[in-house]
Amino acid sequence: KSANRGAFSGRSAFIFAAIGSAVGLGNIWRFPAVAYDNGGGAFMVPYLIALLTAGIPLLFVDYAIGHRWRGSAPLAWRRLKRWSEFIGWWQVLICVIIAIYYALIIAWSLNYMVFSFDQRWGDDPAGFFMSTFTQSLTGPDVHMSFDYVGAIVLTIIIVWVATLVTMALGVENGIAKTSMIFIPLLVVMFLILVVRALFLPGAFVGLDALFTPNWSALLDPMVWIAAYGQIFFSLSVAFGIMLTYSSYLKKNTDLTGSGLVVGFANSGFEILAGIGVFSALGFMAQAQGVQVGEVVSSGIGLAFIAFPTIISAAPGGALIGVLFFGSLVLAGFTSIVSIVEVIISAVQDKFGLKRVTGTLVVIVPLALISIILFPTTMGLALLDTLDNFVNSYGIVGAAFVSTIALTFILRALPALRDHLNFRGSFKVGIGWQICVGIIAPVVLGTTLFFATQALLTAEGPYSDYPNWFVNLFGWGMAFALIVLAVVLSLAPWSRNSNLDQLDSDG
Ligand code: PHE
Ligand code: NA
Repeated sequence: KSANRGAFSGRSAFIFAAIGSAVGLGNIWRFPAVAYDNGGGAFMVPYLIALLTAGIPLLFVDYAIGHRWRGSAPLAWRRLKRWSEFIGWWQVLICVIIAIYYALIIAWSLNYMVFSFDQRWGDDPAGFFMSTFTQSLTGPDVHMSFDYVGAIVLTIIIVWVATLVTMALGVENGIAKTSMIFIPLLVVMFLILVVRALFLPGAFVGLDALFTPNWSALLDPMVWIAAYGQIFFSLSVAFGIMLTYSSYLKKNTDLTGSGLVVGFANSGFEILAGIGVFSALGFMAQAQGVQVGEVVSSGIGLAFIAFPTIISAAPGGALIGVLFFGSLVLAGFTSIVSIVEVIISAVQDKFGLKRVTGTLVVIVPLALISIILFPTTMGLALLDTLDNFVNSYGIVGAAFVSTIALTFILRALPALRDHLNFRGSFKVGIGWQICVGIIAPVVLGTTLFFATQALLTAEGPYSDYPNWFVNLFGWGMAFALIVLAVVLSLAPWSRNSNLDQLDSDG
C-alpha cells in the first residue's frame, strides 16, 4: 500500500532537499530590504527571536506531522483526525498557486542570465523590463490578455520541462539529487558574487546602511511582525512542504537536529545575501551620487531593475549578472520542486497513483495553466496579485488555522512532542509548546489582522489594478482555495489508500 511512496536515501539527502526548498527568492531579494527597512542591524534581534520562537518550532511541527503520520499533507492530516484533511488540501492548493507564478520568475531570470552578456537594457533597465521585455500592462490598464511575449514563453516552457523531468525521477533521484548538486553550486556562485560585490567601490557604504542599528525600531510592533513574517515565509513552514519531505524519511531519523541545521543554514544564506545585495546597492548609490536609501528595493524591482543598473555600471558586469541571475534560477528551481512535490504526493495518495502517473497528472495541467496565463502582458499584474494575496491569506491563514487546530482542538502537541523527542538529538518541551500554541497563533493572528486592514483601507484596489481583477485573482482566489479544500477533503480516497492512524513510536 505504501509501495508507491518515495523515500530519501538518508539524512543528508533530506537536509539538502529541505535547504533547497527554504533557500529561495525570499533569501536573496526579500530579506535584505526587510532588514534595512526594519531597523538595520537592530533587526537581527527580532529576527533571531522570531527564528527561535516561531520558525524553528513550526518547522518541528511540520516535520513531526509528516513523519509521524507518514503521508502527503492531506493524508497526514486525515490520519491525525478525519476532519482536518481540509487543512492538508488548503496547503496543497496554496502550493498550486505559488507554483504557477514562481515558474515565471525563474523564467525571467533565465532570460536575464543571457541578457547579462549584451546588457540589452542599455541605460533604461526599468523601461526595458516593463515595456520591452515583459510588455506589462500596469495599474488601471490591466485586463485579461493573451498577448504572448515570445522570449518568456520559451523560457517558461524550459522551466516546466525541467520540473517535469526532475519530478518524474522521484524523491531521491529527482528532488534530492537536484538539491545535492544545485545547493553547493548556488553557495559557490553566491560566495563569488558576494566577494566581487565587496570589492566594488561604495560597497562599505552599502553595508553601513544595512547594518547600522536603529535601536528604536525595536519598540515598533510592526518591526516584530516583519521579522516573524520574514521567518515564516523564508522557512516555508506550515504549507505542507516540510511535512511532505519528512514523510519520506526513515523511521529512526533525528528530526530536531535536522531542523536546526536547515533553520540556521537558511538564515545564514539570508545574511550572506544581505551582504552581497547591499554591497552592490552601495556601489550603485555611489555611482549615481545618491544616498543608499534612495536605491534600496526588493523583489522584482531589485532583481530586474536595480541589478541590471549595477551590472551595466560595474567593471566585469556580465560576470555579476550571470552569477546573480544564475543564483536566482538555482534557488528558485529547488524551491519550485518542493512546492510541486506537495501537490504530486497528495494526488498520488488520494488517487493511488504511481510516481510517473502522478507527476504527469499534476504537472501537465499545472504547466499548461502557467504557460497560458503568465508569459503574457498581464503576467506581471497576475503574479503581483496572486503573490500578495496568497502570502497574506494563504500562507499566514493556513499557519494560523493549523496552529490553533493542533493546540486547542486536536490537542496534538503532546503527541508531536513525544514523536520529536523519540529520536531527536535536541529535546523539545514546554517551551516549544508555548511557541507553537501561543506565540505563533498570536503573531499570525495579528499579521492577518493588519494585512486585512491594509488591503481594505488602501485607496482604491490593490496596486491600482481594476476592482474586478483584484476581486477575482485576490479575494476570489483566496476564498476559492478554502472552498475547494473542503470539497477535496470530502472526495473519496482510492481504495488502495490506508487511512488508519498508524502505530505510534511505541
Ligand atoms: N522559502 C522560500 C524563500 O525563502 C520561498 C518559498 C515559498 C519556497 C514557497 C517554497 C514555497 O524564498
Ligand atoms: Na528562505
